[in-house]
Order: sequence, then C-alpha cells, then structure tokens
Amino acid sequence: MPDLHFLPDDRIVGVRAGTTILKAAIDAGLPHAHVCGGHARCSTCRVVIVDGLDRCGARNAKEQSIAARLNCGPEIRLACQTDVSGDVTLRRLVLDPEDVELTDLRRSSGRRRVGEEKHVAVLFADIRGFTAFAETHLAYDVIHILRRLFRDMARVVDEHGGVVTTFMGDGFMALFGAGDAGDAAPDQAVHAGVRILEVADAAEPWLDDLVGQRLEINVGIHYGDAVVGTIRDLSSNDVVTAIGDTVNMASRIEAANKATGTRLLISSETLAAVREPVTLGRSFRVALPGKLGEHELFEVVAGSQSGPPPSRATLPSSGRGVSKAVLAAAAVALIGALLVLMLVAIVR
Ligand code: FES
Repeated sequence: MPDLHFLPDDRIVGVRAGTTILKAAIDAGLPHAHVCGGHARCSTCRVVIVDGLDRCGARNAKEQSIAARLNCGPEIRLACQTDVSGDVTLRRLVLDPEDVELTDLRRSSGRRRVGEEKHVAVLFADIRGFTAFAETHLAYDVIHILRRLFRDMARVVDEHGGVVTTFMGDGFMALFGAGDAGDAAPDQAVHAGVRILEVADAAEPWLDDLVGQRLEINVGIHYGDAVVGTIRDLSSNDVVTAIGDTVNMASRIEAANKATGTRLLISSETLAAVREPVTLGRSFRVALPGKLGEHELFEVVAGSQSGPPPSRATLPSSGRGVSKAVLAAAAVALIGALLVLMLVAIVR
C-alpha cells in the first residue's frame, strides 16, 4: 500500500493505489480545502509534489485545462484529480484555516453554500445616462430616486422568483434559478424584465414632478451556467452571488441596449429556454466587448402571460418587429377573402 507523506503536517497516510490525494486527506481527517467539491473547477485543493511525481497518475483533461489556465508547473497537481501508485511526498498549498473552514460549509445544508454550479438566468438592469443625471441633481434627490425605483424593481424580481444579488450604484444584478426554479428561471427573468420596464414607465410622472426628467432603464438577460454561492456579510447574513461567464455575458447584453436603441435584450440561449409567450421586436447580431464573434440578441417588447399559451416564444420573422402570429393572421384573412370572391363569382 503506497504512503502519502503530507506536509507541513508531517503526517504519513497509507492509501490504496488509485485513491486520490484529496480523498486520502479527507479520510485521514486532514484539513484540505476543496471549494468545488472535487470537480476540477477551482484550484483550492492544489498541492506541490515534493517527491514521487513519477508515481502520480498523469493529468486528466480537466486537470490539464486548469493547469494551462493557471500556468502550473508539472509539480503542481490538483489533489482531487491526482491518484498515486507509490509513495509520494506532497505539500498542501492552501493552508489558511479560514479557507478550510469555509470549504467545510459545503457540508452544511440550506442556503449557506460555498459554491454550486447551476443553470441560472442572470438579469442586469441599469439606468442609462445616470452619471450625467447624478452630476446635475442634488445627491439626496438622486439617492431618494434610486431607493424608490430599486425598491419597486427588487419587489418585481422577488415576485417573479428571483433574488437581487448586487446593487451597483445605478443598476443591479438579479439571479433566477439560484434556488429550485429549474427550467422556469428563463421565463421568470424575462417576465421580470418586462415588468421592470413597466415599473420604470409608471414612475415617469413622479420623476417629472420631482426633477422634471425621465430615466431610461435598460435590461439584459442571459441564461447559462454559473457558480452560485453565498457570501456572509458583517451582520452574518448570507448573500447569494454568482460568478462565471454567464454573469459577464448578461452585463454585456444589458450594455448593448445603448447601441441597439432597445430597452430589453435577451440572448439566443435565453430565448431558446423560454416557454411562456413573449412578444419580440427586432433582432440583432452584435459583437460584445470581451467576447469572441457575434452574438444574436433579441429585443423583448412585451410579456403576454394573459394571452393564449403558445408552445414557445414568438419569433420575429425578419428582425423588424413582425411576428409569426401576425403573418399567420394575415394569411388566414387573405384566404378568407379569396374564398368569398370565388363564391361571388360562382353565384353570378
Ligand atoms: S477541489 Fe476544486 S479542483 Fe479540486
């Protein structure tokens, strides 16, 4: 049976061949950070092999990918992906007791999570031209307006099953699907987005009275994978947050509203996952900052939860705001008119 010599603890643990270093450490009761739960999605379990690198199994594809991304030398290994066939001496690299304690939260239940990869819908809402607005109005007025607008919009998010994770001065980020929404997350996010714009429209007379100006709200939504976890604030409240490309993408989509002259844009991934009816406007192929290639974005102009439930979202036929439903209605009307003309001709 091979021996694993753990440093700096100076503990020797016997392991069966093929056992990963992480499993050996956990089985032996050694504190070993493993934030992603051993799925090769973080780097907290990494170790440096001091002796016996040739007795470690070769890197698998997942470990190779992380090693390339972090520019790790061959002696740096992910403990959760590395098994051994003989004696090995290694040193854990993430030794901070707080890191290990936070990792151990993974075992706790409920909402207090270290991190979990989920399919979520991320919504960004932002006030366009806020900097200029803030510069030309009294700070207390600006704060008052933000508090009222964002309170009402956060309420909308909550009513649609989402959670506002971050307020960023002139905008906020909301997450749908962080709990158990499952496939409903895209519908929840899109209909929340529509409702947020309605809230903004309804606030116009109030804003006009208060500061003689309206504020334009833009919304962007993307649906994809993100690591969802909780961060504990100083009041010991757990705040849900999400990290990943899906979050960045949603932020870029929201910003694209400025160039496209729209108010609510969603990605093609979001549209593909939406099951309840929404009315689409224009579609665009745009390059997004920091993202390769062009991305297809769709303008949502209305939700139609009260209408008859079609099998999927209404797609624009030409990217110019004409829906399939409208074309179908026109075709039915045309056929009806032709039949009437034929009957008149026969009667004569
Ligand atoms: S625990 Fe995350 S990569 Fe090993």
